[in-house]
Amino acid sequence: MAQLEADALIVPVFEGAREGRFGIPELIESGEVTGKSLELTLIHHPQGVLARRVLAAGAGKAEKFDASELRRLVGAAVRFLKTKSVKKVALALDSALATAGNVSAAVEGAILGSFEPDRHKTDDDRKSLESFTVAAEGGSGDVAGAAERGRILGEAQNFTRDLVNEPANLLTPLLLAEAARKMAAEFQLEYEVLDGQQMAKLGMGALLGVAQGSAEPPVLIVVRYKPAAGDSKAHLGLVGKGVTFDTGGISIKSADGMEKMKYDMAGGASMLGAMRAIAQLKPAIPVTAFVPCVENMPGSRAQRPGDIVTAMSGKTIEVINTDAEGRLILADALHYAKQQGCTHLVDAATLTGAIVVALGHLNVGLFANDGGMRDRVLAASKAEGERMWNMPLEDDYKDYLKSPFADIANVGGRWGGAVTAAMFLKEFAGDTPWVHLDIAGTAWIDDNKPYVSKGPSGVPVRTLVRLAMDW
Ligand code: BES
Ligand code: ZN
Ligand code: ZN
Repeated sequence: MAQLEADALIVPVFEGAREGRFGIPELIESGEVTGKSLELTLIHHPQGVLARRVLAAGAGKAEKFDASELRRLVGAAVRFLKTKSVKKVALALDSALATAGNVSAAVEGAILGSFEPDRHKTDDDRKSLESFTVAAEGGSGDVAGAAERGRILGEAQNFTRDLVNEPANLLTPLLLAEAARKMAAEFQLEYEVLDGQQMAKLGMGALLGVAQGSAEPPVLIVVRYKPAAGDSKAHLGLVGKGVTFDTGGISIKSADGMEKMKYDMAGGASMLGAMRAIAQLKPAIPVTAFVPCVENMPGSRAQRPGDIVTAMSGKTIEVINTDAEGRLILADALHYAKQQGCTHLVDAATLTGAIVVALGHLNVGLFANDGGMRDRVLAASKAEGERMWNMPLEDDYKDYLKSPFADIANVGGRWGGAVTAAMFLKEFAGDTPWVHLDIAGTAWIDDNKPYVSKGPSGVPVRTLVRLAMDW
C-alpha cells in the first residue's frame, strides 16, 4: 500500500478509531479528522506513502459500517477528488475491510460517483478520473472477481442513467430500441422489436391507445438472456415502463416541472441496464426483458377520456385519465411476457406521483401478489442497499377501479393512488408470481448528493441483477 503510486489514496477512517498511518493521527488528535460519515480531509505530502495525497474519508461508526456505506464513501471521495483534477485514485482497504462484497461496492461507488448528467454540455473542462485501484491488503475471497463484478454493475447502472437522462427529442421509442439493439449486440443477447403493426395483430389495444396521440411510432423491445445450461424451470421476466415522454396526453399535465417527464422511461432503462450486467455475470436462470415504449402526447389522434380499449388479455378498459398511461402499456407487456413463457415477473415503472407522497424519495414502493417473490426481491434489495418498502395489495382495493362501462377503469379516484395503480397491473399479472416496483420517487435525484450527482439514480438495476444471480 505504501508503494502504491497514485495521485490520491483514499483511507477510510472510523469514528473514534486510531488510524495510525500517513499523518492522520495528528489530525485526529487536533480534532480535524473525526471519522464522521462522509467527512473528507485532504492531506498533502503524506508521510510514509508514495501516493501524492491521502484523503482521509469518514466511515462513520464501525458497527454501522457495511458495503452500502463504503459505496457512498468512495462515491463521495471520487466526486471530491475529481473537482481537484485528480486523475489516478486508489482506495486502501485493510484486511478486515477487504471482503469481496466491499471491493465490489467500492468499485461501484467509484463508477457511480464518476457519472455526471452533463454529456450535452459543450465546454470541455469536464473532469473525470483516469483510473481507480483498490489496494486490498490480505483480502478474503475472490477479490479480483469482486472488482470485476463491481465494474460490471457500476457500468450497467451508468448505462441506465445515461438513457434516463437523455431528453425525449433525442430518445424516442425508436431510438431507445436502437440503443437496446446495440447493447444486445455488444453483449451477445438476443434482441427483437415489435412494431405497431405486430402489436395490433397481437391485440395490444391498451398500449396502442396510448401511442396513437404521438407521431412517434411505438415499439415493444424484447431482450433475451439464455444460460448455457438450459435446465431451469423458472424464467424471469423483467418488464419496464418505457414512456419516452409523458405530457399526460389529453389529460395534460401542468407546465411546472413537465420537463422532468423525460425520465418516464426509467423502468425500461433499468431493465436494459440489468440485462447488460446479466449478460456478463451469467446467472443460471433465463431472463427476458420487455420494454413497451411510447410517447404520451395529446395529438389530434390521441385517445380521449372515456375511450374504451381492449387489452391483449381480452379485458376492456375505460380510460378515465390519459395521464395514467403507464399501467395501460404495462398491462399488455405483462400479458405478453406471460405468453412468452415467463414464470416469474418483476416490473419497474415511474408509475405514480402518489408513491412519492407515500414514501418520499428514499424507498421504492414494492407491491407483490406472491409472498415468495416478494421475499426474494426484498432480500436482493437489502443486500444491494436499494431501499424498498412493501405496500398493500389487497383485493378490497379492486372496488376502486370499477367502471360502469368496461371491465375496469384505468384510475381509482383520489385515495391510495399508488395502490390502485398496482391493483390495475395485478389484473394483468394474473396468477403469475409478480412484483411491481413503483420507482417514481427514486429513479431521479433532485439535488446533488456528496456521493452521487443529481439526475437519474440507476435504481433498481442492482436489485434486479442480484435477484437473477441469487435465484
Ligand atoms: N409518469 C407519471 C407518474 C409520475 C409522477 C412519475 C411524478 C414521476 C413523478 C404517470 O404516468 C402519471 O401521470 N400518473 C398519474 C396517475 C393519475 C392520473 C391517476 C399521477 O400520478 O398523477
Ligand atoms: Zn402519466
Ligand atoms: Zn407516466
